[in-house]
Amino acid sequence: MSVNLSIHSNIRDYEVYMEQSPDFVDALASYPQACFAIDENVWRIYAGTLLKNLPEKDIIVVPISEDRKNLNTVQELYDRLVERPAKRNLTLISIGGGILQDVSGFAASTIYRGINWIYVPTTLLAQADSCIGSKTSLNYKKYKNLIGTFFPPAHIHIYPAFLATQLDSDFYSGFGEVIKLHLMGGDKSFRELVQYAPEVLKRETTALLRAIQQSLNVKLSYMAGDEFDTGRRNLLNYGHDFGHALESTSDFAVPHGQAVIFGMLAANLISKKRGLLDEKVEREIAETFLVPSMVIKPSLKALEIDAMVSAMKKDKKRTGDKLALIMMTNDFNFKRVNDLTSDEVAEALVMLQKHLLS
Ligand SMILES: NC(=O)c1ccc[n+]([C@@H]2O[C@H](COP(=O)([O-])OP(=O)(O)OC[C@H]3O[C@@H](n4cnc5c(N)ncnc54)[C@H](O)[C@@H]3O)[C@@H](O)[C@H]2O)c1
Ligand SMILES: [Zn+2]
Repeated sequence: MSVNLSIHSNIRDYEVYMEQSPDFVDALASYPQACFAIDENVWRIYAGTLLKNLPEKDIIVVPISEDRKNLNTVQELYDRLVERPAKRNLTLISIGGGILQDVSGFAASTIYRGINWIYVPTTLLAQADSCIGSKTSLNYKKYKNLIGTFFPPAHIHIYPAFLATQLDSDFYSGFGEVIKLHLMGGDKSFRELVQYAPEVLKRETTALLRAIQQSLNVKLSYMAGDEFDTGRRNLLNYGHDFGHALESTSDFAVPHGQAVIFGMLAANLISKKRGLLDEKVEREIAETFLVPSMVIKPSLKALEIDAMVSAMKKDKKRTGDKLALIMMTNDFNFKRVNDLTSDEVAEALVMLQKHLLS
């Protein structure tokens, strides 16, 4: 059963539609004053099928990669948008993964101080995680997600059929965030994912819809009352302390959600070492999900201790001298500590180097 979501936001309330058929694309095709920003790969795959009725003159095809998630690409979009007759009444309809969402969402939130924005996520990561939460983020020089705005799309259309064509490495990247959100949903949510993960990995529609809905619901539960990320929402960065560092030390060779899996492994090891997470649970989570889902293994170079520690020090959410870490503790609780030492990081890295690279 799929249920649409109405999300309350301090910026503006918005709707998530779980689409069962491709008809919504035809409705978008005749949206007034609209312009489409489409991920280049998505356009290449779907131009002759799902997206064939979109008006070609209104389409901007955007080549995307993590090193194009920056202000230059936003400017390319501005250049195309300002040429259009519609100004503040323009609607931007974005179709693509998380990178396209971030770049086009930033453009939509800033041009003319914000225009109407509709988003159709086409990757598992974007459907199950990034599409909600109002954040748009750009990389700046070597810094990941340093620039951004809070700006939710007015409508989000989730159509899992898009996921059939995702590369395995990207699909598994999204699965990393799905695992994270199911762990954060508690024991029951984790056990349920253990049951239906095989169908999710076969990309069966019913299982995908279930995993996506559960993930979005958990994310919403952590965002409640903290849309602007000053408190509890920060716990959603579980797996991201080491994860962001690994994205940077691997020059983005390890995709976001895959790096988050690594981050959860490392955080759980540290939590276990501190006596906060039962060894049996730590091992069960690592063995059922985390290790088997790491289909892109980091190179030894990306796991060098000094490089990782210095990348972790660049985390924009860090306060004070020591490192921060979000940890899972017993009973599927989560907490942030601000006293992580470089020695603890080094110890976890050495264990993971042995475990993952041998
Ligand atoms: N704004 C947020 O709240 C938020 C949250 C989490 C992650 N993110 C960001 O999202 C980005 C990762 O997003 P992603 O995992 O969706 O990756 P992505 O956008 O890089 O897409 C992965 C690849 O899949 C291709 N693709 C997209 N849809 C496809 C489809 N249906 N079939 C075949 N190929 C397809 C893309 O062209 C790209 O090559 C990161 O930059 C991350 O920082 C943002
Ligand atoms: Zn993430």
